[in-house]
Amino acid sequence: MSKRDGDGLKKIFGLDGKVAIVTGGMGLLGREFVKALRDANAKVAIFDLNVDKYPKEFERILKDDRVVPYKVDVTCKDLIKSALKNVVKRWGPPHILVNAAAVDIPPSYTKGNTSFEEYPEELFEKIMDVNVKGTLLCCQVIGDAMAKGEGGSIINISSIYGEVSPDQRIYIRKEKKGTFIKPASYCISKGAISNLTRYLATYWAKKNIRVNCLIFGGVFNNQDDEFVKNYSSRVPLGRMAKRDEYNGAILFLASNASSYMTGANLVIDGGYTAW
Ligand SMILES: NC(=O)c1ccc[n+]([C@@H]2O[C@H](COP(=O)([O-])OP(=O)(O)OC[C@H]3O[C@@H](n4cnc5c(N)ncnc54)[C@H](O)[C@@H]3O)[C@@H](O)[C@H]2O)c1
Repeated sequence: MSKRDGDGLKKIFGLDGKVAIVTGGMGLLGREFVKALRDANAKVAIFDLNVDKYPKEFERILKDDRVVPYKVDVTCKDLIKSALKNVVKRWGPPHILVNAAAVDIPPSYTKGNTSFEEYPEELFEKIMDVNVKGTLLCCQVIGDAMAKGEGGSIINISSIYGEVSPDQRIYIRKEKKGTFIKPASYCISKGAISNLTRYLATYWAKKNIRVNCLIFGGVFNNQDDEFVKNYSSRVPLGRMAKRDEYNGAILFLASNASSYMTGANLVIDGGYTAW
């Protein structure tokens, strides 16, 4: 590739001088997004409840002064505001927000019955609180700062289960404490994110804020062999995603490459929802 070609690519995908905030940036996918944004030359603030526990290889990224973690509970508006204030003081107003903080009841859950009829209210509230209210609050506070500045790009993260119902044949398991199925709460919360995306895309279009949503399929994270086999058999590409396979989409939505795109829900799922 000639230098000229490289400059062209940089103009489209480069994030020089941009300030990004990644909620849930200490998680499995969040860490990948932080690395990708930093590699494209953005300064990256992580807003996460956990800032102490991470895999050894992420230590190197956290040592880079273009990456700073802030301990933030995304369900608390005051904490988001105060962390944002620190980010602005350090680097200036934000241009990119990736809302990746979320909670789920994983297939390894063994604490009780998750059947629809018996699913505990407090678990439903917890999931809605982090996944929906947390995303909304971060959009309110950080989007407002973008609206008062140069505008920006908000990237919400959803799941195939915000689009289609889980195939419970992959999940159902009898436990001593009851039956495990993939609960409705996560699916409802992710469905809400898609429409929050459309709402904000129209609401903030005049303020030069683009708001889009990425809909991901399941990521391989050492789940048990039977789960991986069953899940993969539902995917046209025949496998789960690798953890770095969504980074290209993050860079696309964060950068000028998607300058005419707002209000979109982009599906990346190996074809899961295509049949
Ligand atoms: N991993 C997958 O298979 C998959 C598939 C589809 C969609 N997604 C979505 O991608 C996003 C990232 O998923 P992941 O796999 O990295 O999850 P993860 O559980 O590895 O990371 C989530 C992060 O959010 C943080 N968090 C939780 N509650 C918080 C709160 N109240 N305030 C601040 N931070 C909080 C956690 O500390 C954690 O670091 C999520 O929105 C998830 O729903 C994941």
